[in-house]
Amino acid sequence: MFSEKIVQSLSGGSFIRAMFEQGENLRKQYGPDKVFDFSLGNPDPEPPLKVKEDLIRLVTEDNPRLHGYMPNAGYADVREKVAAYHARETGLPIKGDHVVMTCGAGGALNVVLKSLLNPGEEVIVFAPFFMEYLSYISNYDGKCVIVPTDTKTFLPDAEALKAHITPRTKAIIINSPNNPTGVVYDRATLEKLAQAISEKEKELGITVYVISDEPYRKIVYDGIELPRILNIFKNSILVDSFSKSLSLPGERIGYIVANPAIENIDTLMAALIYCNRILGFVNAPALFQKLIADNLDQVVDIGIYKERRDLLYNSLTEMGYECIKPGGAFYLFPKSPIEDDTEFARRAMKYNLIIVPGSGFRCPGFFRLAYCVSMKTIENSLPAFKALLEEFR
Ligand SMILES: Cc1ncc(COP(=O)(O)O)c(C=O)c1O
Repeated sequence: MFSEKIVQSLSGGSFIRAMFEQGENLRKQYGPDKVFDFSLGNPDPEPPLKVKEDLIRLVTEDNPRLHGYMPNAGYADVREKVAAYHARETGLPIKGDHVVMTCGAGGALNVVLKSLLNPGEEVIVFAPFFMEYLSYISNYDGKCVIVPTDTKTFLPDAEALKAHITPRTKAIIINSPNNPTGVVYDRATLEKLAQAISEKEKELGITVYVISDEPYRKIVYDGIELPRILNIFKNSILVDSFSKSLSLPGERIGYIVANPAIENIDTLMAALIYCNRILGFVNAPALFQKLIADNLDQVVDIGIYKERRDLLYNSLTEMGYECIKPGGAFYLFPKSPIEDDTEFARRAMKYNLIIVPGSGFRCPGFFRLAYCVSMKTIENSLPAFKALLEEFR
């Protein structure tokens, strides 16, 4: 037979994919414009014009060996540019040697976890969280330890974190701006986490790495500050991707930056590069490495997402839905009007509304809306949200 672990995982399935497939059925039945599908975080704004123009130039100009194999860490000039960008941002002595180009954030997280974990070691995540973390941690026989956040703010709590750090804790994954809540972690919260980690490290004689998963780092609204993780946590490893910031999710391009202050940084970098190779990624896509190197300051039109956030958030809260106003990413995470969020999502289908229950992110009682849909879809969906809420009044 096949791998028992994998066959077992298949029965779990992906909540989000399942909702998306239900949406496909409804689209066939009623027509695409009658279905309001908020299930998938698949960015729909176009990549910036400069990015498209640069891509055409790269493909058409004479560029010998552009498509060839390269060092597993990626092109040296690209790594230098990424390093310079983060050195500017943080003031830290980050060099190209501290950067590994990867196949998106998903590839990067797998490379980092494979490099860090011995079987049975623990990785802490804060709920609600991006569910792929469970699989990524399990890929390397790590144990995922889930610490709930306070659902009034969805911010992680330092005391709760402390209570979950054990001698087997190897890493903590943080994700801000957050999927699924859209919450941006403020500086005071992060500094408290850093303090808690360093106290536990001293008490237990361990090193805990902070893996900061930041694919939404450029999608922040209202001038909110996104504190720089590399400045707050000494043992920090930042993971970035261009899937969301440049609307390039299918091209699989991202990178890892490790904090130069990490002890034995050279061994860590060698491990990351080695894992990028042996996981079969070999190297990040050549063409897209070159593309992003000259577009590190570029970002899709955030105004499009902000307009949608405002319309959806204002309309739903006026109707009576309870929801935190997200400071970033492109998700809303309102409270389900009934305790059973899965039942709520099922009832939403009656109105051709496709939403994802919070249980799918280990946070029951809520639901996620990905506003990677047009303003027209949002406008047309509002009567459905209203009628749905009325059912539970
Ligand atoms: C929090 C989070 N991390 C990582 C990823 C994976 O991104 P990528 O396409 O760069 O692999 C996603 C994608 O939705 C995400 O939401």
